[in-house]
Amino acid sequence: MYRIAANILSANLARLGDEVTAVVRAGADLIHVDVMDNHYVPILSVGPSVCEAIRPLTAVPIDVHLMVKPVDRIVPEFARAGADLITFHPETAEHIERTIDLIHDHGCKAGLAFNPATPLAWLDRLLGKLDLVSILSVNPGFGSHKFISAALPKLREARRRIDESGRPIWLEVNGGVKLDNIAEAAQAGADTFVAGSAIYGSEDYAVTISSMRAQLAWAASLRRSLQPA
Ligand code: DX5
Repeated sequence: MYRIAANILSANLARLGDEVTAVVRAGADLIHVDVMDNHYVPILSVGPSVCEAIRPLTAVPIDVHLMVKPVDRIVPEFARAGADLITFHPETAEHIERTIDLIHDHGCKAGLAFNPATPLAWLDRLLGKLDLVSILSVNPGFGSHKFISAALPKLREARRRIDESGRPIWLEVNGGVKLDNIAEAAQAGADTFVAGSAIYGSEDYAVTISSMRAQLAWAASLRRSLQPA
């Protein structure tokens, strides 16, 4: 199953409520919320109050991506604000396993995000505890940046490890995802696609999302045709 997560970082924040309901009506499976602290990343974005404000507007899962350091203190606030998934970067936690447990203790699914330069070795011990692995295909902190193709072999390796684990872990690709590269990311093994500017920068959200789905359907048929009989 493929999931499209609309990233509100690129939404018109003056009409955020409408932008959330519009993109869900247009077919988005998740709402992605980038939390940037102007410390771990050089941008300040939104806090738990925004998550709380959009929570009553939609039943789709809210996928919170924490780019904050330190991270533990803010986890309970986003859980209370209605987050379903909380993802953080290994570099921002004192004790990664304790942060994963903290997220689970507050009733949310836990994800780990990997910057382009961050090795997947962190997964050696942690894959058994994760619900989502997020491969950043841009360096964190900005929307509308170009997709870094080095994310493709990393997706393939993460896909191999997830399949080997046998656990239902989502594999997310995040950053510079567009109509012309989403199929390639799917072929590399991603099943969850974060898109900000590609959706919110387009004229018609429904046309954009259904075009993305058409690309994903093509990628799925290709993956099937390549699988040994
Ligand atoms: C980068 C963020 C991405 C980024 C994606 O730090 O985590 O989610 O905003 O934006 P687009 O889809 O516009 O590249």
